[in-house]
Amino acid sequence: MNHVADQPADPRRRTFMGRAIVLMAGLVALGWAIPLMLYSVLPSLRRRSSAWVNVGEVRRLSVSQPQELEMVVTRSDGWRTITTVKSLWAYRTSATEVVAYASMCPHLGCAYAWNTASGRFICPCHDSVFALDGHVLAGPAPRPLDRLEAKVEKGHLFVLPQEFRAGVNQRIPV
Ligand code: FES
Repeated sequence: MNHVADQPADPRRRTFMGRAIVLMAGLVALGWAIPLMLYSVLPSLRRRSSAWVNVGEVRRLSVSQPQELEMVVTRSDGWRTITTVKSLWAYRTSATEVVAYASMCPHLGCAYAWNTASGRFICPCHDSVFALDGHVLAGPAPRPLDRLEAKVEKGHLFVLPQEFRAGVNQRIPV
């Protein structure tokens, strides 16, 4: 007769085994959760990566006469690569110095334009007016034109594309 088999199982031993199983299940779940979390979160963190864009030869720009230019912007959005054409306003202040502005009005995002006759930027939506240096001369725009980082290398203008939230008095990148 087997006396050991007849004895009831030690309750402390059962509790320990239960906890060990729960712990192992938790570790397995964690092993799945971490890669899944990285897979879903990392792409959205990469979305804001930006790079200098070659906008073309700087000699086509005039001194103090802004021109509207186009730039091809490529960015990673999650696992996709998106290419868009964006515009900007730029003018030279010297052979190697360029001022560049994002093309959206800081009021509500309309496209403004340089008016040669008045020597000002004018937004047709709500009549905001901006000076050559970007500051607000009239209208409801809450801040100056959004200046973009720009540099000249080997005769080419490079711009760091950026967009900012409209309707607020601070430059908040979006
Ligand atoms: Fe330009 Fe309102 S969007 S003035």
